[in-house]
Amino acid sequence: MTPSTRLAIPFNRPNLAGSENQYLAEAIAAGPLAGDGPFTKRATALLKNLLGAPAALLTTSCTHALDMAALLLDLRPGDEVVVPSFTFCSTANAFALRGAVPVFVDCRPDTLNLDERLLEAAITERTRAVVVVHYAGVGCEMDAIQAIADRHGLPVVEDNAHGLGATYRGRPLGSFGALATQSFHETKNVQCGEGGALIFNDVRYLDRAEIIREKGTNRGQFFRGMVDKYRWMDIGSSYLPSDLLAAFLTAQLEHFAASQRRRMRVWDTYQRELAGWAAQQGAIQPTVPAGREHPAHLYYLLLPDLDTRQGLLKHLAEHGVHGTFHYQPLHLAPAGLAFGRTAPGGCPVTEDVADRLIRLPLYAGLRDHELDRILAAVHSYEPRLA
Ligand SMILES: Cc1ncc(COP(=O)(O)O)c(C=O)c1O
Repeated sequence: MTPSTRLAIPFNRPNLAGSENQYLAEAIAAGPLAGDGPFTKRATALLKNLLGAPAALLTTSCTHALDMAALLLDLRPGDEVVVPSFTFCSTANAFALRGAVPVFVDCRPDTLNLDERLLEAAITERTRAVVVVHYAGVGCEMDAIQAIADRHGLPVVEDNAHGLGATYRGRPLGSFGALATQSFHETKNVQCGEGGALIFNDVRYLDRAEIIREKGTNRGQFFRGMVDKYRWMDIGSSYLPSDLLAAFLTAQLEHFAASQRRRMRVWDTYQRELAGWAAQQGAIQPTVPAGREHPAHLYYLLLPDLDTRQGLLKHLAEHGVHGTFHYQPLHLAPAGLAFGRTAPGGCPVTEDVADRLIRLPLYAGLRDHELDRILAAVHSYEPRLA
């Protein structure tokens, strides 16, 4: 082991609330380990409360929640769904899986969210939905997006993988779309290794969603005593997580406020301590427009160009700090080219920021001396002065 690997500060360290072991032991002792057991009910109630949502279903991932959303929208080959290009592939893949065409729209240069000024031009008579992603948990321009979607009679799907705990004009992210999705992957603010949820702000989707999530059966109705046997009712798959995962998630959700305080402290320290360096080096710090509270999901910087970004990644690695880049444009990805279409005007901002963005370690368990080391490592990178 070299000194730098021994001392390395990882990019992510999954946070533990402390009660996970106890809840896992309780779940094992209580018995039902399949989905929709007692801990699933507890975690779902906590999540609904956090989001002010009328209904939620835990899923095995955000990807699967998006897959369910695409099934619920009854998409057919040739339908179109507007998505940002600057996002994770699952945001588009869910719709491509149904044979629909993801139509890629560019992002805003400030928040890196879907640019609402380009949305209307991307909508055609084949468009069936608008999907938004709140990058880094900073809310999209939801008023403008919702107004355009309403004008065209289109449902909005919120991929809220980053935005749990954030707000837009005082309202939780995840409470805007007819459907919204959450991720509980180990890199997220609340995590159970792999997991997710589908949130229903329009409860008309709920009954069918329960069936889709249970292999296309009405098993949920059977367990509630509403039918005397359960049968294959619709297409579906197995999207419900084991109650063991829900036990882990319950611990995490109960601990959310405390872990958020620690994440916010790290984010605020980066923002404050890197301001001078960023100004000197021509780097841009994250923008959080007025009326938005972000959840300290990730901390990024936009460097002046690709070489400077690559240089900083290498410099950090030499100092035992694992930084990383983020999304590569979906409209240029092999599957994006094969299954999608780029909206008029292309996605020049997405292409530009994908090359220049670097993310720094950010997690509740980041220790003060590690944060100091990361800051010192960034401060000692001065390509402009070299
Ligand atoms: C915006 C976005 N959507 C969806 C996903 C997929 O989440 P999961 O790993 O829970 O399927 C990710 C993963 O990081 C993401 O960043």
